[in-house]
Amino acid sequence: MSEHGRINMCEINCEKERPKAKKPLLIEDLSLRDGHQSLFATRGRTEDMIPVAERMDEVGFWAMEVWGGATFDTMHRFLNEDPWERIRTLKRYVKKTPFSMLLRGQNLVGYRNYADDVAKAFVNRAADNGMDVFRTFDALNDYRNFEAVAPVIKSCGKHFQGCICYSLTEPRMGGTVYTLEYYVNKAKELVDMGADSICVKDMAGLMAPYDAYALIKALKENVDVPINLHSHFTSGMAPMTHLKAVEAGVDILDTCLTPYAYRTSHPALEPMVMSLIGTDRDTGFDIETLASINETLEKEILPKYRHLLDDTKVSVIDINVLLHQTPGGMLSNLVNQLRDMDALDRIGEVYKELPRVRKELGQIPLVTPTSQIVGTQTVNNVLFDTPDERYKMITAQVKDLCYGLYGKTAVPIDAEVQKKALKGYDRGEEPISCRPAEVLKPELEAAKAEIKGLAVDEDDLILYTLFPVTGKKFLQRKYGKEAVPESMKSITLDDVERQADIIKKAKAGELVESKLNGESPEKTECLRTFNVFVDDECFEVGVDEVGGAPVIAYAQPAQAAPPAAPGQPVPLQGGTVPPPPPAPAASAPAPKAAPATAAKPAAPAAKPAAAAATGAPVTAPMPGMIIKYEKNVGDAVKKGDTVVVLEAMKMENALPAPADGEITALNFGSGDSVSKGDVLAVIG
Ligand code: CO
Repeated sequence: MSEHGRINMCEINCEKERPKAKKPLLIEDLSLRDGHQSLFATRGRTEDMIPVAERMDEVGFWAMEVWGGATFDTMHRFLNEDPWERIRTLKRYVKKTPFSMLLRGQNLVGYRNYADDVAKAFVNRAADNGMDVFRTFDALNDYRNFEAVAPVIKSCGKHFQGCICYSLTEPRMGGTVYTLEYYVNKAKELVDMGADSICVKDMAGLMAPYDAYALIKALKENVDVPINLHSHFTSGMAPMTHLKAVEAGVDILDTCLTPYAYRTSHPALEPMVMSLIGTDRDTGFDIETLASINETLEKEILPKYRHLLDDTKVSVIDINVLLHQTPGGMLSNLVNQLRDMDALDRIGEVYKELPRVRKELGQIPLVTPTSQIVGTQTVNNVLFDTPDERYKMITAQVKDLCYGLYGKTAVPIDAEVQKKALKGYDRGEEPISCRPAEVLKPELEAAKAEIKGLAVDEDDLILYTLFPVTGKKFLQRKYGKEAVPESMKSITLDDVERQADIIKKAKAGELVESKLNGESPEKTECLRTFNVFVDDECFEVGVDEVGGAPVIAYAQPAQAAPPAAPGQPVPLQGGTVPPPPPAPAASAPAPKAAPATAAKPAAPAAKPAAAAATGAPVTAPMPGMIIKYEKNVGDAVKKGDTVVVLEAMKMENALPAPADGEITALNFGSGDSVSKGDVLAVIG
């Protein structure tokens, strides 16, 4: 308890008046992981955590979540920070409070199942670097995906927290799949695996207060390990859900400090602390310490992140979650994808198709990565299906799901959809029923050979193995082989002040910067601009990138090199016809491994329409990024063979040859961004 606290809050904080509770509610703080992941696109920097780290250590949290989920990806991809270094740095300031991370089971901190050797090495290194609590989840609640990591967590002497992803098929808990019995059985499974505690992970904020009461009570009656509730605020129910969970005897609740709370994040800590004072669940936390941390965050830290906050809505509650059970992150992905396709007017159809696709794909919970898998397939169905054919364009990830590569779905996948998805699937047309990682070959040795010389230690090697394209780029920057782009550097309070200054000048009519006729300019990831709105006017201020959800590119094991035959460069533009008049960017060789983000070519790629005239074109049905070409120039192809794999909305789409023939041109390279309608290849 701080001196400060005693002076100002004597009634609340005097030991005499506030006896220690019989069973204090334990709190895991999520501000430094889920908090900024939910509100600020995971862009929180380590340097902005340090000013509050020591005081946070004094609060008395059961654990602080500081890592995992999207942090590993975002840090190396966008912030030029070594994810491993963050744990070590924060550990120097936070000496008492255990660190917690979110581990996506066999997906680790990525978006696919990795081989067992990678999974084990990752957990070992995370433990060595200072991780204490491993909150482990699987999107399908298939705990065979914990079999590789759980024993390593235990053997490192760390806390294995098993998650149950909370999902619904009706407005309230029940129905035929996600029943009370389902959750109790899952909890028992976790205890049998050696879970030290159980977390109910309500990622979309779907849990209603009275369902929480019934669920937590049932779990407390059936298992002996502590129960932790993680419920996002998104729908607005979570504070009520929290209170009912406390009444039902929940052991640990997840909250955020106020500046990181609400919207798609979590309920705030402080109201819960105040609500429980004087009860037998009193947290014992000093409200003045919390207030002082909040003040620092509010004044010195959050101004640097405010521009990332989704300010398109006034309301802090997302009603769509209640209507359509579409988690916030998933919804913004769907909207972005439809907007890219000029099809935003079809969002209603997407909402209608989504429950149907989810059901056909085994009624799976919607959480990373299944939310993207179901969401993207739904968009594909709405945009490309015809009245007589559904699932016309099936993503690679849906094929993997149908094969069993993510695990066992809650109910069997629709037989017809499964058969269609697995037709010609490269691992085989018969789905597997074993633990998914059993069909995966070890990956570390191959990765080591590929990245030789650039990965200095095991942490580097794991980073590269998980994210071959962006990981390699990061290592090149880390070891000074590539410059750090301006867009990755942090902004300072000075930058923020400069922005405020511009607003002031604008208000005084002293500003002559570009006025955009009252129309909002398009936001891009690359521009590092602030759009400063003053009354009805908009000023573009070049300071930092504007918003955007973390781009999760599907980094395939790195054979994503362009199919250029030695000495015979692939014609980038124009195919077999003479190249168009000199365009600087067009004559450069295809980049070997362009950033997996929406890196746009220096000059917009001209559509090689001329080439299309000489053969059958393979066109991009949607904007996206070329992952790889499956064929080389000169290869013979049959109609339906996969020519190119295009990533759109984080999912891969195999584009087939429209006719028999020979590949006469491949117009782009791996990593290139393409627009809808671009000719990607030509078959002569
Ligand atoms: Co969460």
